[in-house]
Amino acid sequence: MVSIAIDGPAGAGKSTIARQAAKIMGYIYVDTGALYRAIGLFTLENHVDVTQQDQVEGMLSKMEIELAFFEGEQHVFLCGKDVSQEIRTPEVSMAASRVSAVPAIRTFLFDLQRNIAKKHSVIMDGRDIGTVVLPDAQLKIFLTASPEERARRRYEELRQNGATDSYEEVLKDLKERDYQDSHREIAPLRPAEDAIEMDTTGLSLQQSVDRVIALIKERLP
Ligand code: DC
Repeated sequence: MVSIAIDGPAGAGKSTIARQAAKIMGYIYVDTGALYRAIGLFTLENHVDVTQQDQVEGMLSKMEIELAFFEGEQHVFLCGKDVSQEIRTPEVSMAASRVSAVPAIRTFLFDLQRNIAKKHSVIMDGRDIGTVVLPDAQLKIFLTASPEERARRRYEELRQNGATDSYEEVLKDLKERDYQDSHREIAPLRPAEDAIEMDTTGLSLQQSVDRVIALIKERLP
């Protein structure tokens, strides 16, 4: 099985680039952020305070979370319900960032992510894929772009989905999430020592995908 890890901050283009590269290579694209988002959604709907250990334990004991792949597209199921669309709101993004700092939640998701990579050739994107989840991945890429460019991309994406958040709000949220994600104690966002860093600022989607494919072909002839 081939494992390719793509990590980086929110809005660096990980999901769009990874999805297209996976399609070209015939691998499964796994968006691990969707798992943290689904748990974030659960905490919002069920008023779970993740700073309270007993509440986290209670939640994890009853929560069922699953990933399924239909025609190459990932769907995330929370307690049997497909929540793939619902998890794409700014509120869920912030909740996901909060739940992702809780060690018990990261442990809970670890096996799920590892098991997918055992069964399929994958391009997996997230924050700790190269450092924690798939430390033996054949290729690790750390994708970045300037905060302003990342906020601009997120803003366009949200607008297309009908959201009314301003660019300034999106930029502020993104900087806050960057801070939370890279300053948490457990599995903070950082490049693995053997990751190749790629800055997508000013690159088109096509150029970014081409670079990733070139790296894969170089590494896996
Ligand atoms: O990639 P995303 O924006 O969908 O991720 C949502 C949140 O989940 C993000 O704030 C960081 C967290 N996350 C994580 O800690 N580890 C991962 N492997 C993926 C996401």
